[in-house]
Amino acid sequence: MTTITYIEHSGTKHQIQVENGRSVMQGATDNSIDGILADCGGCCNCATCHVIVDEAWYSKTGSPDDMEKDLLEAVPVPTSTSRLSCQITVSDELDGLVVQLPEEQF
Ligand code: FES
Repeated sequence: MTTITYIEHSGTKHQIQVENGRSVMQGATDNSIDGILADCGGCCNCATCHVIVDEAWYSKTGSPDDMEKDLLEAVPVPTSTSRLSCQITVSDELDGLVVQLPEEQF
């Protein structure tokens, strides 16, 4: 299990234990965290799982592929550390990961 902190746009924090191999998106939806819609179920097709990764953690989440980059250009307020949370796989290396949820998805 890996500890991930999800911070809602309002500032409310959720520190969640997520099973390795699940996605950061699934960690949120499994625990009913508001702000992650995940309309496509994790197929990298909707961008409603946008998160802003804490700068200290961004490089550890890997690099978005071309499809994810294209979708990130379409989110309402993209940032330099934006990722689609369905494309980040939870592992021991991400223990302590902090992600912020944007004010709105689509
Ligand atoms: Fe649809 Fe992530 S859940 S792109």
